[in-house]
Amino acid sequence: MLNLKNSMVAVLMLIIVATAGWVASKGGAYNGGQHGKVIADIGDRGAAQSTQTKEKDDRQKEDDKLKALRDKAGNAGAFEVSQAYKSKCASCHGVNGSGFQNGKPMMGPKLIGQSADDIFQQLVDFKAGRKENIVMKGLLLHLDEKALREFADEIGDFPARAAAAKK
Ligand code: HEC
Repeated sequence: MLNLKNSMVAVLMLIIVATAGWVASKGGAYNGGQHGKVIADIGDRGAAQSTQTKEKDDRQKEDDKLKALRDKAGNAGAFEVSQAYKSKCASCHGVNGSGFQNGKPMMGPKLIGQSADDIFQQLVDFKAGRKENIVMKGLLLHLDEKALREFADEIGDFPARAAAAKK
């Protein structure tokens, strides 16, 4: 009885020692075997991060280029416009009347820089059909002269708004 117990303990001890040896040979957490791997991982992540930063730099450069282009195209920067202008005119003439969006020409020409009276005259002419444009005529059909005057006055005010927005 005693012998059997002793040999069972011996077998268990053997198993434990063998397991410990196996774990140690695998470079488990106990003997610090993972440190190298962890450090390698951190190194990898660092490398990945630096490519990310590079991509970001590239994107920043791309953005700057676009911005420069936009400025060249007569984009006067952001300023407040009325909801009416935004919803009825901005889609073709740009939110600031530059006729450009993201450096690309839009459907409608540049409006900013023209006086309120010039804009008004063109709107009236479009509406009356004296100035031919099916798009603009259709658009203005439902606007009365008072509304045209308001749009003209607002667009005439764009350069002043742009100047104020730049400050
Ligand atoms: C669907 C696109 C579109 C929308 C929306 C639009 N326009 Fe136009 N607009 C044009 C096009 C295209 C022209 C060029 C017509 C031409 O020269 O024959 C134009 C020309 C003009 C012109 C004459 C500019 C010039 O120098 O010849 C004025 C002024 C104008 N639009 C004002 C407006 C106003 C104000 C609104 C909003 C109420 C507006 N447009 C909405 C497409 C649009």
